[in-house]
Amino acid sequence: MENETTHGSIPQEIIFRDASIHDVEAIAALHAESWRRHYRGAYLDSFLDGDVLTNRLAEWGGRLTAPSADHFTIVAEQSDAVVGFVHMILDKDPHWGTLLDNLHVTHRLKRHGIGRELLVEAASELVRRRPDDRRFYLWVLAQNTAAQAFYMACGGTRVETTLCGPFPGGGKALGHRMAWPDAVALVTTQA
Ligand SMILES: CC(C)(COP(=O)(O)OP(=O)(O)OC[C@H]1O[C@@H](n2cnc3c(N)ncnc32)[C@H](O)[C@@H]1OP(=O)(O)O)[C@@H](O)C(=O)NCCC(=O)NCCS
Repeated sequence: MENETTHGSIPQEIIFRDASIHDVEAIAALHAESWRRHYRGAYLDSFLDGDVLTNRLAEWGGRLTAPSADHFTIVAEQSDAVVGFVHMILDKDPHWGTLLDNLHVTHRLKRHGIGRELLVEAASELVRRRPDDRRFYLWVLAQNTAAQAFYMACGGTRVETTLCGPFPGGGKALGHRMAWPDAVALVTTQA
């Protein structure tokens, strides 16, 4: 990806860049808030009402203090605040390819095109890193119909439904696998 970009109808002051160790706390806070808002009913109440932030700080601390060629994270930033992020784990599945593990946009800025641009930036980076294997996929909760509509608007196809989990804190729920056979389609659409 380019180091910093702005795009289309997205608020002009938003930039997209690679995440660094300095983003751990901001990403963890956004992630915890988004789980609490959107994942109730799938994740256990006891977990969501507890210390989700500590759980997410441990996860993001691990990811961002140990940069690896096998994964990458891109953030959307507005006035020095993280307002969205996407994380990709390369070559996760032999059949479906790279896993898009997390994509979240801060609640007040949803429907401004930030999620789509994060997806496009992630797809561009995947194409750059894996020019010969550009497949990717993700899991979305069956209850999360808004995210499913978003992914379908961005060219994803629902290919499988299964019981997912156990999630952090416990619990299981139905989820859909959404897949993209070639990330370059997303990049080309947005060009
Ligand atoms: C899902 C999410 C990442 C989408 O990001 P976003 O910035 O809000 O989405 P965008 O503005 O880029 O939307 C692009 C297109 O997707 C579709 N879309 C997005 N949200 C939608 C919704 N709630 N309902 C129907 N379609 C939707 C629309 O076609 C939209 O284009 P439009 O606004 O011009 O109509 C964001 O809403 C989010 O963080 N949700 C909570 C966390 C979450 O569920 N993450 C996914 C986990 S698998």
